Amino acid sequence: MSERELILAVESSCDETSVAVIENGEKILSNIVASQIKSHKRFGGVVPEVASRHHVEQITLCLEDALAEAQIEPKELTAVAVTYGPGLVGALLIGLSAAKAFAWAHQLPLLPINHMAGHIYAARLVQPLRFPLLSLLVSGGHTELVYMQEDGAYEIIGETRDDAAGEAYDKVGRVLGLPYPSGKALDELAHTGKDTYHFPRAMLQEDNYDFSFSGLKSAFINLVHNAEQRGETLDRADLAASFQASVVEVLVTKTVRACQQYSVKQVILAGGVAANQGLRHELQKALATTLPAVELIIPPLRLCGDNAAMIGAAAHVELAKHHQASLALNADPSLAFERVL
Ligand code: KG4
Ligand code: ZN
Repeated sequence: MSERELILAVESSCDETSVAVIENGEKILSNIVASQIKSHKRFGGVVPEVASRHHVEQITLCLEDALAEAQIEPKELTAVAVTYGPGLVGALLIGLSAAKAFAWAHQLPLLPINHMAGHIYAARLVQPLRFPLLSLLVSGGHTELVYMQEDGAYEIIGETRDDAAGEAYDKVGRVLGLPYPSGKALDELAHTGKDTYHFPRAMLQEDNYDFSFSGLKSAFINLVHNAEQRGETLDRADLAASFQASVVEVLVTKTVRACQQYSVKQVILAGGVAANQGLRHELQKALATTLPAVELIIPPLRLCGDNAAMIGAAAHVELAKHHQASLALNADPSLAFERVL
């Protein structure tokens, strides 16, 4: 193996088809992302069958573009990495089939990667990781606090008991008439309002690191519907600000508490909801005040959403551990890290 480790990474777990070439787990040579959001917008959510069809159309083009942009020939590659879960089974299978075919054709090792590990390792594309560390993973499908003692060792210490944070943003945004996915628009609206409605802060006082967002979502929807029935108009900006204040306070408080208990060196904020300006700002502020020695890493926006570069970064660790898969590798839609608490 040459000193220059080059991994071709493939991601297709949800509504982004992406292929990247990553050098030594830290340098992005290319990261092609084909988003399908426009096609799913009119349905107000990702339609699995539509997603699979788009992946089929896009995957080969993305693969060719990723190699061309990186100026890499297949024979120069060290391995092929692919997301095999969690995600939509039909969507995962497209990336998996393409990665397997490519690995077989070019006689390259195949590395199976957990999509959530990818979200964490997006941080590695920004700066070196120092352990132990804690990741707050917040996306449309997940809300997890993951503790890592070392590279490639993932332990869930807390997670949502119901809705994911991003899911709550999307559902509440829909009630406000915002287009899917509404996280970004709701975030922007929140910045123009105030926390006047004081929604509940679920599980904030409980002695664990779990979350719950469905009660908040119901409280929000009930408030809006009741007001509509009475013919009252509520302040949209204040509604958005109040919702965001509740989500952010719970996420930040529990993350800081976990950092204290686990004496971590770094915190990584990852996943699509890591794009949230309120969450970024409040987490930064809370850590700077209570734990100034703890370093916060927030990947740039283009690496917070789903992309293959993060899969390539996580794959670097799996390659070092020789975690190679056979061509019989299957998709695992509910793949999860081990829960330890
Ligand atoms: O990680 P991601 O791209 O896809 C997966 O779910 O795996 O996350 C997408 C989620 C959506 O629910 C979207 O509404 C949310 O991230 N999101 C945001 C923001 N930008 C995207 N949520 C809150 N604030 C944002 N600025
Ligand atoms: Zn994701």
